[in-house]
Amino acid sequence: MDNVGVENQSTAMNVLGIDIGGSAVKGAPVDLRSGKLLGERFRVETPELITPRRMARVVVDIAKHFEWRGPIGIGFPGVVLNGTVKTAANLHPGFVDCDLARLVGEATHSRVHVINDADAAGLAEMRFGAGKGVRGTVMLFTLGTGIGSAIFRDGVLLPNSELGHLPYKGRAFEKYAAASVRKAHGLSWHEWGKRLNQYVGMMEMLFWPDLIILGGGVSARGDKFFRFLKTRAPIVSAKLLNAAGIVGAALHGGD
Ligand code: BGC
Repeated sequence: MDNVGVENQSTAMNVLGIDIGGSAVKGAPVDLRSGKLLGERFRVETPELITPRRMARVVVDIAKHFEWRGPIGIGFPGVVLNGTVKTAANLHPGFVDCDLARLVGEATHSRVHVINDADAAGLAEMRFGAGKGVRGTVMLFTLGTGIGSAIFRDGVLLPNSELGHLPYKGRAFEKYAAASVRKAHGLSWHEWGKRLNQYVGMMEMLFWPDLIILGGGVSARGDKFFRFLKTRAPIVSAKLLNAAGIVGAALHGGD
């Protein structure tokens, strides 16, 4: 941890990346030049839905853990417009219309930027991972509590695409094919893989991507389900795996 001292923080090349999720918040300082974490990820479990104010305190705790005094970038699982959260499907409803950048900025006395979590993961993969140097249309999906999406055209992000909420059988598609659904409904890898294949099939039909990247914890277990995915475009696991959300949040925080 000695390499995250105050000295490094004075340059804007290091940013504390925070990934807010449905059941935990994770953070680590990131070197924006290499995309590498400067310390071991620090994870705070949030088993029940917590309010924005309590969330701000969790971020303060993470910053304290790293003795952090520089800029902070946050990935949030909902639509984010100019630092303000507009939707929070799997989080406390109090986040809707909350200016999270300002709230956390005041709590930490830091400059804070907020971005959608899947957009953050996409930024990281495009800069350092599976999408590096890829032109055309690249789509990234994060498979976790929900399904997050990020779309890039020639490396440029179309923010807040929210394609996990496309309706399917009268509900959001994420309620049918997210990684959490496999566990909650005790689906086999084959059963879940078929659902995921329906999802990526629909995405292909609508967007004709040149590359599809799958992120979220489950992407590390591609051997269990990639064989069920029949796509036209190449489909690969996120290279940064679970760190993508933190790294991408930090990239945004350094803007
Ligand atoms: C949210 C998205 C988020 C995704 C993954 C969805 O429920 O609406 O904004 O990217 O979950 O966390």
